[in-house]
Amino acid sequence: MRKVIVDCDPGHDDIMAILSLLAHPDEIDVLGFTTVCGNNLMPRVTDNLCRVLSYLNIDKKVACGYDSPLVLDPEPQDAHGESGLDGPILPSSKLKPIELKAVEFIKEMALEHDKITIVALAPLTNIAMFIKTFPELKNKIECITLMGGSRSSGNILKRSEFNFYGDPHSADIVFKSGIPVIMSDIEICAECSTSHKIIDGLKGQGKVHDLCYDILNFFSEYNRKRNVDSSPIFDLVPVMHMLHPELFITRKCQVDIELDGKYTRGMSVVSEGDNCLLIEHLKDNTLYNNYFLEDLNILERNNSGN
Ligand code: BDR
Ligand code: CA
Repeated sequence: MRKVIVDCDPGHDDIMAILSLLAHPDEIDVLGFTTVCGNNLMPRVTDNLCRVLSYLNIDKKVACGYDSPLVLDPEPQDAHGESGLDGPILPSSKLKPIELKAVEFIKEMALEHDKITIVALAPLTNIAMFIKTFPELKNKIECITLMGGSRSSGNILKRSEFNFYGDPHSADIVFKSGIPVIMSDIEICAECSTSHKIIDGLKGQGKVHDLCYDILNFFSEYNRKRNVDSSPIFDLVPVMHMLHPELFITRKCQVDIELDGKYTRGMSVVSEGDNCLLIEHLKDNTLYNNYFLEDLNILERNNSGN
């Protein structure tokens, strides 16, 4: 069984990724979550995660990570609203973070298990600090599958994606670490968009579906206002690739991160090479979204009675 740690900054799309992953307990053992400053400051995103898990009665470990990037200042994202997870109204959490900090938690898990996979859905500060602090444990990380970067576009600057823009120095450490990295960039996330019709259909289908509707309805507002009929759920993509690799076309490449650019901070430069497996294309958007909906149905069934 694959042992997974999810490093995240929930974040609407982070929650969708987490829910999909949790729908596969026979294949994926989610050891716990580490949180990091990204979409909002660390205490906020940690509270958002704990509220969702607690609301759905999911008892998992949550370890707090860094509250600022390695070198630069934090810059919360508007797309997620003031709370970092605007949309659903959730009661305060019964679940509290564990005492161990993120990097220590990853270390403990790396020592305890043969191999672990890191699903990284946020700026890479915790992961870079783990690599720097415990280089002798690098070989315990089977791979880091991350959402971040782009081939030719940007969602913060013209050529910069938020997670790499947020902490370029950490992204640079990760790509230079020698640990196998799988990258889901903005372009593949766009191919994996979910139609607003699908999102609207979630409403009224149960507790899990209603929560997802509230989350995705808020998250898709930006595109709805522009008359676009679908929205990417960015962080879901690396999870879907882990669960259904046959749905994707991938290629090996070299990824380097721009650290100094005034207009290109955090830009990912993709060229020939092999420090990264790029998820290049999706074969079937309908199947992709059906798998996602099936995961929500599984969670709904597991949650009924709570
Ligand atoms: C990434 O930035 C965040 O706002 C999302 O959660 C996702 O991880 C998309 O660029
Ligand atoms: Ca995220």
